[in-house]
Amino acid sequence: MSSDPLLQPYQLKHLTLKNRVMISSHEPAYAEDGLPKDAYRAYHVERAKGGVAMTMTAGSAVVSRDSPPAFSNILAYKDEVVGWMKKLTDECHEHDCAVMIQLTHLGWRTRWDKGDWLPSVSPGPEREPAHRAFPKVVEDWDIARIVQDYADAAERMQAAGLDGIELESYGHFMDAFWSPRLNALEAPYGGDLENRMRFGFDVLRAIRDRVGPDFIVGIRYVADEQAEGGITKAEGAEISKRLKASGLVDFLNVIRGHIATDAALTDVIPVQGMRNAPHLDFAGDLRAEVDIPVFHASKIPDVATARHAISSGKLDMVGMTRAHITEPHIMRKIMEGQEDRIRPCVGANYCLDRIYQGGKALCIHNPATGRELSQPHVIPSASQAKSVLIVGAGPGGMEAARVAAERGHKVVVHEAANDPGGQIRLTAQSPRRREMLSIIDWRMAECERLGVQFHFNSYAEADTVTCAAPDVAVIATGGLPHTEMLREGNDLVVSTWDILSGDAQPGQNVLIHDEAGDNAALQAAEIIAQAGGKVEIMTPDRAFAPEVMGMSLTPYMRALQEMDTTFTVTWRLLAARRDGNEVLADIGSDYGSVTRERRVDQIVVNYGTRPLDDLYFDLKPLSSNLGQVDYDALIAGRPQALAPNPDGAFQLFRIGDAVSSRNTHAAIYDALRLLKSV
Ligand SMILES: Cc1cc2nc3c(=O)[nH]c(=O)nc-3n(C[C@H](O)[C@H](O)[C@H](O)COP(=O)(O)O)c2cc1C
Ligand code: SF4
Repeated sequence: MSSDPLLQPYQLKHLTLKNRVMISSHEPAYAEDGLPKDAYRAYHVERAKGGVAMTMTAGSAVVSRDSPPAFSNILAYKDEVVGWMKKLTDECHEHDCAVMIQLTHLGWRTRWDKGDWLPSVSPGPEREPAHRAFPKVVEDWDIARIVQDYADAAERMQAAGLDGIELESYGHFMDAFWSPRLNALEAPYGGDLENRMRFGFDVLRAIRDRVGPDFIVGIRYVADEQAEGGITKAEGAEISKRLKASGLVDFLNVIRGHIATDAALTDVIPVQGMRNAPHLDFAGDLRAEVDIPVFHASKIPDVATARHAISSGKLDMVGMTRAHITEPHIMRKIMEGQEDRIRPCVGANYCLDRIYQGGKALCIHNPATGRELSQPHVIPSASQAKSVLIVGAGPGGMEAARVAAERGHKVVVHEAANDPGGQIRLTAQSPRRREMLSIIDWRMAECERLGVQFHFNSYAEADTVTCAAPDVAVIATGGLPHTEMLREGNDLVVSTWDILSGDAQPGQNVLIHDEAGDNAALQAAEIIAQAGGKVEIMTPDRAFAPEVMGMSLTPYMRALQEMDTTFTVTWRLLAARRDGNEVLADIGSDYGSVTRERRVDQIVVNYGTRPLDDLYFDLKPLSSNLGQVDYDALIAGRPQALAPNPDGAFQLFRIGDAVSSRNTHAAIYDALRLLKSV
């Protein structure tokens, strides 16, 4: 038997977990009609196949109708959930993966204008900033009804054959009772700790009455709110001890911090550039003090840190959640001695940020995640080997090379720069975005293993392609920043890329016009502000940096507010005019004809890219498909068979920003879904 601490089994009551790694509860927003249907199941089954010991399904599956989904959560109050959860559980069990589910009442962390338009409810009147709803203060009849809803939901999960459940008690309804800053009630549910914990124990007792003593029941709870007037570390320890002493819970899943704002949530679940495992020692201290099985997840993205969490005795089960969103087969690769082949989570938080904008959780560099029904995590071999020539070694080109090589094709890549990476290399100029480089490094290592041939410093022209006579040519040449969007004075502005690359020196008094709304504007602002410049970021939109999204914005805001950056929404740069050493910026608004003038010494424009597509258009008439993509075939996963020019010598495709200005995920998804069928 292996001596790897992560591969040791763990006994939780009657349940033997085959190793020490779990996926903690997370709602990927794949539910359909509030139910975990085929796509949801396929997502978890893929990870079960990949060897994880336990998956804590759902995230915040809601027990009551007045807890409508805030991010497409499973409706645990519906009886139909039983059949779907049973199917999911049975299929995960076939791969010896335990299945539990997290149940909750969201309390103030939802909105009254969702679901059945019932008032949201909380033990106090405070508004949760993230969801912006003012709740109703809970009454006695609400408490009685919600306690029963919890018990009903637990019974449904037991009926579905799950191995256990976990109650969510951080940032939701239950912990709002515990928290002195949120609980405005009087006795018996408000006041001292015993009263504040009464609701939670009512729920736990009602659940135990329903499911019996053997069913596994745990709690994911806040043990230190890190908020003024909230649950302190000392009170958290006391809560932990009382939970254990009650004999009602089988494990504690430790959380530190609060989640009511994007910034606070980001400290609970750190993003790239932030410290790894920031709460691991805290969880370990509680385990030592309370002596009960302790689980925990918070930016433990790599196997070495997870191994340390177990071998040091800090945790009984270590959660690697986003790590499994990126790489479903972590445990299998460890067991097969292929740890270095694990696709790394780079902390980009595209997954989590998207669900708060109403999207599905997607991984920035694994487009098969959440699309298990149509996209493979393990690329199947092709029936016939072909030669594939790829131009461009950015994220899209590298993915195309990897997938084509996995198919068994002979792959050659030409890249004009010294190194692979394209825009990733540029974005990784900022220390906090450095983890992005792993997107390229992982692909480079996979390509080298698969024998892909690279030509760097090679500016491919049409005859580079025609002389090589490939079966398939993929143009992944990316784009270049576009700044020519002014009525006058386009020659007076620089691009965000100029600032990031160091081609333009930062000014002292700078206006950044941001219409792309992505990382580049914030990164440029940070570089300029760090060099001592005064920066105003201006956008015609009604919110700035919409593509960066909530949690990923947090580290930028902390840095930029500290350096006194100004954020201006709803104003648009119209023109620029030279005035001595300065530039006069004409500013208008999409809302009316009002104008303003601003005097600065540098204008930086962030307006996306324009495709570098000359090569594509040169090759187009020479190709058999004339560059055409059969979208129906692409979506259905069939090979591309269009051949309007039978004399053409090769199939030609372009992907990523060489088509239009999009993002890293789009470029990689273009590559995967096209090349997996070549
Ligand atoms: C898309 C997504 C949704 C999540 N939803 C929940 C949730 O509903 N309940 C919960 O307790 N945690 C939720 N989490 C947090 C995870 O369980 C975990 O604590 C967090 O991702 C940190 O662990 P990691 O660094 O291993 O990913 C979610 C995480 C992600 C990525
Ligand atoms: S989007 Fe980023 S944080 Fe989320 S799983 Fe993928 S690599 Fe990890």
